[in-house]
Amino acid sequence: MVIPQLDTRNASKAREFAFSDEDFNALRALVKAHTGINLTDQKRELVYGRISRRLRALDLESFREYRELLSNESGTEFVEFCNAITTNLTSFFRESHHFEYVRDQILTPRMNDPRGSRRVRIWCAGCSSGEEPYSLAMTVRETLGDTGRWDIRILATDLDSDVLARGQRGVYAADRVRDMDPARRKRFFRETTLNSQPAYAVAPELQSLITFKQLNLMTPFPMKGPLDAIFCRNVVIYFDKDTQRDLFARMSRLQEPGAILFLGHSESLFKVSTDYSLIGKTIYRRV
Ligand SMILES: C[S@@+](CC[C@H](N)C(=O)[O-])C[C@H]1O[C@@H](n2cnc3c(N)ncnc32)[C@H](O)[C@@H]1O
Repeated sequence: MVIPQLDTRNASKAREFAFSDEDFNALRALVKAHTGINLTDQKRELVYGRISRRLRALDLESFREYRELLSNESGTEFVEFCNAITTNLTSFFRESHHFEYVRDQILTPRMNDPRGSRRVRIWCAGCSSGEEPYSLAMTVRETLGDTGRWDIRILATDLDSDVLARGQRGVYAADRVRDMDPARRKRFFRETTLNSQPAYAVAPELQSLITFKQLNLMTPFPMKGPLDAIFCRNVVIYFDKDTQRDLFARMSRLQEPGAILFLGHSESLFKVSTDYSLIGKTIYRRV
């Protein structure tokens, strides 16, 4: 039996739009320069799929036309282009041991120490649609109860303006909160609808702790610090090592010795930064 070989060059003939090496290389160079995201050859189909949607939406006939549009117009489509490329997978209390660490090692010791600082600054860098900062806000409210004497801010930033808007709105389809502890859901969410479907809206007591802001991690950071904790989880997995080195060097300048950095489950600072020491599963302390 002859097994047909898949010829990826010919595969493009069956596509709705021609997608040449030149198209792919030009688009991935733009993505790398602007976002730090390193699109490997394996991401070719993903790029085709996501950007084809933009071609359809704009009624364009080819990737060449799309590239021309990106280079000519003032930037509106560039935002859509970046939004289409980013991967935004997230969930409430994802990698839950990080939130337990915040509760047990950051907030509780301070609460129990009459002289402990009541100022808490946490940054979610690459917060996607908000589940991560809201999980932190729930941790804060559950641990500290009345925060009247505390000065707590959670800064939540992302490059992608679509997911950021969703985070700011704070309304989640019912399946996003289905696995949450029912008591927690009852305390922090109110039932509502989203696109006529059952949904949950986060409580104002969570929203009041968080500031959502668009920030490209490739650009200078506007905040000063010092930051008690940085959540930079499942973001740098898409960056090459040099980009990671530069990013963590800049992040470390916002943190004092003893402050904490949380990375995603498949990320590490090995050969990337010596400004932090590993103290737990993907938990680092500023040295
Ligand atoms: C996979 S999500 C991770 C969300 C969350 N931190 C978590 O772990 O559940 C990665 C996020 O990083 C954001 N991102 C990627 N490159 C970025 C950049 N250069 N600046 C800011 N955010 C970026 C993406 O838009 C996306 O929302």
